Amino acid sequence: MSSDNHSHLEQSGASDASLQQVHDQLQSQKPEKADGNPSYPLMLLGIMCAAVFFGSVYLAHYSSHFDASIFNENQKPTKQAATGPVITPAMLGKRVYTANCVTCHQATGLGQTGIYPPLAGSEWVLEPQHETHMIAIVLHGLNGPITVKGQTYNSAMTPFGGILRDDQIANLLTYIRSEWGNNAPAVSPERVAEVRAQLGARGPFTVEQLNSIK
Ligand code: HEC
Repeated sequence: MSSDNHSHLEQSGASDASLQQVHDQLQSQKPEKADGNPSYPLMLLGIMCAAVFFGSVYLAHYSSHFDASIFNENQKPTKQAATGPVITPAMLGKRVYTANCVTCHQATGLGQTGIYPPLAGSEWVLEPQHETHMIAIVLHGLNGPITVKGQTYNSAMTPFGGILRDDQIANLLTYIRSEWGNNAPAVSPERVAEVRAQLGARGPFTVEQLNSIK
C-alpha cells in the first residue's frame, strides 16, 4: 500500500518534470518580439483609425457643417424652402368656422331662411363700416332684430370671445370674407385685439348698440 503510493508520487513527479521540459522547449522556439507586445492591438488600432477616417469623411459630406437650419423647429421656413402646400389664414379660419359656426350659418354660408341670417353676401360681413360690428358680434354675441340682405331676423347669437383667440377669430373672419363669392379684405389678429380691448366686457349687443360704437 505504502510502496504503491510512493510509486504514484514518483510517477507524477516525473510527468511534472517532463511537462516542464516540453513547456521550456516550446517557449524557446517562440520567436522573441522586440517590444514584447502581441500584434493584434495594432490591427485594432488600424481598424479604429479607418473607422474614424470614414466617419470624418461621411460627416464632412453629409453634416451640412452642423448648420442649425437643417433641423431647427424655431426657424420660419424661407420662401425658397416653402415648396409644400401653403396654409393660408383662410384655410385655418375654415376649420374654426366648421367647428363653431357651421351648424347655424351652414357650409354654404346661406344660413337658414327666417332663422339664421346668411354670411354670403351679408353687408355685415362685407362692408367696411361694419367691420368693427362684425368682430363685436363674434366676440360678444347679438340680440334682437337685425336686417341682413333686406330680410329681418329677430333672434340671438351667443358670444365666442371667451372660447376663441384673437388669431382664430381673425382667420375665421378672413375666411367668411373670402368664401361663397364674398370678396372683402382680410382681418388681422391685431384688429380683433383692438376691438376686444375697446369693447371690454360689454355685450351681447343689439344692432342699435353696435351702430353707436365709434
Ligand atoms: C346657434 C346658432 C349660431 C351660431 C353657432 C353662430 N351664429 Fe352667427 N348668428 C346667429 C343668429 C341667430 C344671428 C342673428 C341674431 C339676431 O337676430 O339678433 C347671427 C348673426 C351673425 C352675424 C351678423 C348677421 C349676418 O348674417 O351677417 C354674423 C357676422 C355672424 N352671425 C357670424 C357668426 C360666426 C362667424 C359664427 C361662428 C363663430 C357664428 N355666427 C355662429 C346664429 C348663430
